Amino acid sequence: MTAPVTVTDEGAVRIVRMNRPEKKNALTLAMYREMARALREADQSNTIRCNVIAGVPGAFCAGNDITDFLNASSGGLDPRVSEFLQALALRQKPLVAAVDGVAVGVGTTMLFHCDHVVASSGATLSTPFLKLGLIPEAGSTLLAPMRMGYVRAFSLLVMGRPLTAAEAKDAGIVNTVVDSAEVDATALEAAQEIAALPPKTLAVARGLMRGHLDEVIKQIETEGRHFRELLQSDEARAAFAAFLARRK
Ligand code: COA
Repeated sequence: MTAPVTVTDEGAVRIVRMNRPEKKNALTLAMYREMARALREADQSNTIRCNVIAGVPGAFCAGNDITDFLNASSGGLDPRVSEFLQALALRQKPLVAAVDGVAVGVGTTMLFHCDHVVASSGATLSTPFLKLGLIPEAGSTLLAPMRMGYVRAFSLLVMGRPLTAAEAKDAGIVNTVVDSAEVDATALEAAQEIAALPPKTLAVARGLMRGHLDEVIKQIETEGRHFRELLQSDEARAAFAAFLARRK
């Protein structure tokens, strides 16, 4: 069986690929942990200078596994989720995303931590948190309004209106839109370009541009507290059960 997250290094670029195509790359707790580990390890490496986060054809990431949400609604949110979100926010080395197909929930909100985003023309970004009785996470309530402007962020994060790749580019959260078959190569090329920059000055420039990390971490924690509480609501539990039962 293929691993649900694969990690490959191509020269100075680490590619962290979500690889659970049968579930559209819905993230399990083990996947969160493996991705966090791979990104942290890249920061420690003397050879890796940039990361690419990628998915499979047609599925960047369908968000948190809803079965885990249902399980978490009785026992609380597993620490592996916040460990991953913090790993994203705290990374010292740049993150490039290669987005093909669906990016839902954390599949979209993780993009706000990326330095460069390549998407296929058919990609869609959506965050149906409120429809599931939840609130946006991963620091997105702070980062999305900053990046896209408040009304566009409200439409995406609160109203749950999806964005096409072209709209996401227009909103300033995607750099380049290419054909599906070109997504990985275009993202790798951008990552190689970033990796070729002088590392110390890259780290300083990036650190300055990303602003106050402590605010982002605090927002992730505050969102997490609300999220944990909401996971246990009847409304959310009913929405999870409805999704999981939809074809049975
Ligand atoms: N959690 C658990 N399973 C999921 C999942 C998720 N987040 N997203 C997809 N899957 C599963 C489906 O249940 C299905 O499993 P099955 O084949 O055993 O029935 C499989 O992945 C394929 O999904 P399917 O819905 O058939 O694919 P699609 O192309 O028609 O739709 C999505 C893809 C992503 C639009 C749709 O699956 C979806 O809306 N998923 C839920 C996304 C979500 O709400 N995530 C949480 C955000 S907070």
